[in-house]
Amino acid sequence: MGDGSTLEPEGPALQDLSASEIESILDAAASFKKSKTSKALAGRVATLIFSEPSTSTRSSFEIAARRLSAEVLGFSTASSSLLKGETLLDTIWNLEAMGVEYFVVRHEVSGILEELAPRTKASLINAGDGAHEHPTQALLDILTLREKKGALKGLKVVIVGDILHSRVARSNIHGLKKLGAKVTVCGPRALVPSGIESLGAAVSHDLDAALSGADAVNVLRLQLERQKENFVTSLPDYYAAYGVTAERLSKIPGCAVLHPGPMNRGVEIESAAADGPQSAILEQVSNGVLVRMAVLALIEEWRSHAG
Ligand code: CP
Repeated sequence: MGDGSTLEPEGPALQDLSASEIESILDAAASFKKSKTSKALAGRVATLIFSEPSTSTRSSFEIAARRLSAEVLGFSTASSSLLKGETLLDTIWNLEAMGVEYFVVRHEVSGILEELAPRTKASLINAGDGAHEHPTQALLDILTLREKKGALKGLKVVIVGDILHSRVARSNIHGLKKLGAKVTVCGPRALVPSGIESLGAAVSHDLDAALSGADAVNVLRLQLERQKENFVTSLPDYYAAYGVTAERLSKIPGCAVLHPGPMNRGVEIESAAADGPQSAILEQVSNGVLVRMAVLALIEEWRSHAG
């Protein structure tokens, strides 16, 4: 990887970035909190290809690209020629031929960006690929933690919920571990993949034990749409064992609550926890725009140096 001053566009996963590269993105995002807008992408065209639903990621990338003065081409997968059999690569090549240089892609296939990136001169930005990674979500989670807690080194972060299907969990583990945080993943046995310890995370199936001494808890949505088996016995049982509630949080008053969204209130998190004084959830959402501005601007910087 590079020297940390630029973000190479071939690295669509936090696994591929060094600690200093992650810090550079966080610093650039923090600087956009003050400057708000820039001409970094003036004259560039960006588009968003999302083959899975999204509110937060899609909207914040679009706002980020506009704040950097890019032109944003509207693209709806549901009304595109992808539905008539055009491959995603042909779609990218066609749009690239029209002048699109930035593609923000969400796709159900893990690793699809690594496959496509070498076949186009355009920059592909990972907005979530299957259960692999959601790097900008983890970056905004980490930025929010850095703002709340200062340095990441030594922080105890618990990620609770559907770890098995979660690209957010994988990206968070990679990013947090690189910056020196201690990570515990927690959930029912069926929703914690075997071997996750190899990424450097501790594993717990007891939420109250895992939360003891935690500086932050990142609450994941139960991804019912991806579950082909009954991974949980019942939603009330799941909530009783793994729901993040105000009562649980009252024992750890210094613990910040994160959730990548979309939230299922009453399934994995109580409204009193989501909207309570320990919640940093809307700060995460605001930071999403800044992180995505930083990623786009740093890629543009790299592209201009690469010629
Ligand atoms: N966090 C996240 O990816 O949310 P969306 O699915 O709404 O983009």
